[in-house]
Amino acid sequence: MSKISNAEAIAAWSTMPADVVSAYDDQGDYPKRHLMNANLLRMLGALDGRRVLDAGSGEGYFSRLLADRGADVVAVEPADALRARAREIERDRGQGITFVQADLAELPDLGRPFDAVVCSMVLLAVPDWKAAMAACVAALKPGGRFVFSLTHPAFEDLFGIWSKYGHYRLDRYLDDYEMPGDYAPDFHRPLSAYLNQIISLGCRITEVCEPGLDPQVAADSGVEGTESYVALPNFVIISAETDG
Ligand SMILES: C[S@@+](CC[C@H](N)C(=O)[O-])C[C@H]1O[C@@H](n2cnc3c(N)ncnc32)[C@H](O)[C@@H]1O
Repeated sequence: MSKISNAEAIAAWSTMPADVVSAYDDQGDYPKRHLMNANLLRMLGALDGRRVLDAGSGEGYFSRLLADRGADVVAVEPADALRARAREIERDRGQGITFVQADLAELPDLGRPFDAVVCSMVLLAVPDWKAAMAACVAALKPGGRFVFSLTHPAFEDLFGIWSKYGHYRLDRYLDDYEMPGDYAPDFHRPLSAYLNQIISLGCRITEVCEPGLDPQVAADSGVEGTESYVALPNFVIISAETDG
């Protein structure tokens, strides 16, 4: 386990300035728009009328995409800065999203079990990620679906490294380590750690998705380095189901 605590990591997320938090658009950001969101939605399956937990919802763009599709959404987010922005947008839009401020590793009772839990780009931010993952699985009804995404542990800082060298370089993969971020750290663990943990929780992995960017979309961006998303997967998205 990491040397920093969950509370310290959450406090770091709370230092995100308001202008950075509000820079997210309705699809999050460029990589999420083009690589992540459609895959998450597809892997979650039917949403209309389903009770869905957005675990570590950030400023809530994905909760809003879920609510747009008819889901009854509970969004758990512990960091003040992100949660405040999500609530502000909910006050404007009134989509009926329920917000809960909590650490996933100490999840309060959220009521009825969920049809699906999505945990997008969160476990890599949580020091005690095994407790967080266990809580997500425990929140599901039998046969419920758990979909989580990560920066692909084999291709972290893909855009930055590719932009510098014209290809990807990696010299450390198998151990666990902390990676400093602009506001809060991420934590590297090999992909097998996540996959084996979800299996040990009694889930059946139903899909592992390593999305690549459409070459034409990359060309249209006009931004050098975007071709890295065509060649290599920036994200990995995993779906799993509990016993039915
Ligand atoms: C990279 S952001 C992703 C947010 C959102 N899911 C998205 O895709 O935009 C990571 C999020 O994890 C949250 N987080 C960090 N530690 C957490 C914990 N122990 N429990 C729940 N969320 C946590 C942070 O506050 C932050 O909102």
